[in-house]
Amino acid sequence: MIPHHLPRAAVAASGYLPARASSVAAGVDGVFGALFWLSVFFLVLIVGVTILFVVRYRARPGRVAPEPSRSHDTRLELVWSLVPLALLMGLFGMSTRTWLHMVRGDGAGGRPLEVHVTARRWSWWFDHDGGRGAADLHVVAGRPAELVLASADVIHSLYVPAFRLKQDVVPGRYTRMTFTPTLAGTYPVLCAEYCGTDHSRMLSRVVVHPDQRSYDAWVQEGQAAVASLADHGRQVFAQRGCAGCHSLDGTRRVGPSLKGIWKKRERLSDGGEVVVDEEYLRESLVKPGAKIVAGFPNVMPPVVLDERDLAAMVAYLKTLSETP
Ligand code: CUA
Repeated sequence: MIPHHLPRAAVAASGYLPARASSVAAGVDGVFGALFWLSVFFLVLIVGVTILFVVRYRARPGRVAPEPSRSHDTRLELVWSLVPLALLMGLFGMSTRTWLHMVRGDGAGGRPLEVHVTARRWSWWFDHDGGRGAADLHVVAGRPAELVLASADVIHSLYVPAFRLKQDVVPGRYTRMTFTPTLAGTYPVLCAEYCGTDHSRMLSRVVVHPDQRSYDAWVQEGQAAVASLADHGRQVFAQRGCAGCHSLDGTRRVGPSLKGIWKKRERLSDGGEVVVDEEYLRESLVKPGAKIVAGFPNVMPPVVLDERDLAAMVAYLKTLSETP
């Protein structure tokens, strides 16, 4: 499955943790390290002082009774309130910065590599940009990647320790995970949400290609074998007779035309507005009456599809974009 010219698993571990293979890994390790060493410091300090005092001031014959201690000391109370406050605010700042980096991406150039992930009991399936589906995830070092995740049954969670990233996969909706891999190699992928008997065996791996050429070569290799997700969606579109109500050329029929549908701003019958994305397309297939485009009747029956066909339909509708 994995091309031979790829470097073997990068085991450039960072101390006691696995290799740092994404642009957010260092930030996550920073937060983890700060929490860990702060805890070690206070553990040693508190336990150390406790042991010292227990030994030093233990009851001995002839020992005078201790004087009563003061019930209040404003300075002391300010110190033990303000120092923890400062520490906690510091940790809050660090983790917020890392989290923002995680959800916003690092603004690295280039169109993100999009991969559609389908989780089911108990396996992962990855439909890649360029049309190759595989049981392994393939991404490119230095190029941002965007995963759109769907579940065919229960909640799963995609966990890549080397990226320091984890994202729940929830049935009935899409979740997203964005990141930039930084280190070529092969890393484990786990399911981190208990999902039944073989949860612990719901394993896969992610291959980080050193460059786009290597990735393209991999896609080409499998092109002939598997129809792309969008092509599959085109077939589903035809089989289900969607074209009866939705034209592809802008002509108005019973339903809105699908010409340039992707990312289009639609006015809704309830006065609202929506920008067409995966979530909206999915909802409109599964629950057509939820958000009706203004000026059209609410007459579409729900389309019953399994998750992969649904993902394929969305992938196909995405290709109907005005701006590729
Ligand atoms: Cu899937 Cu645990």
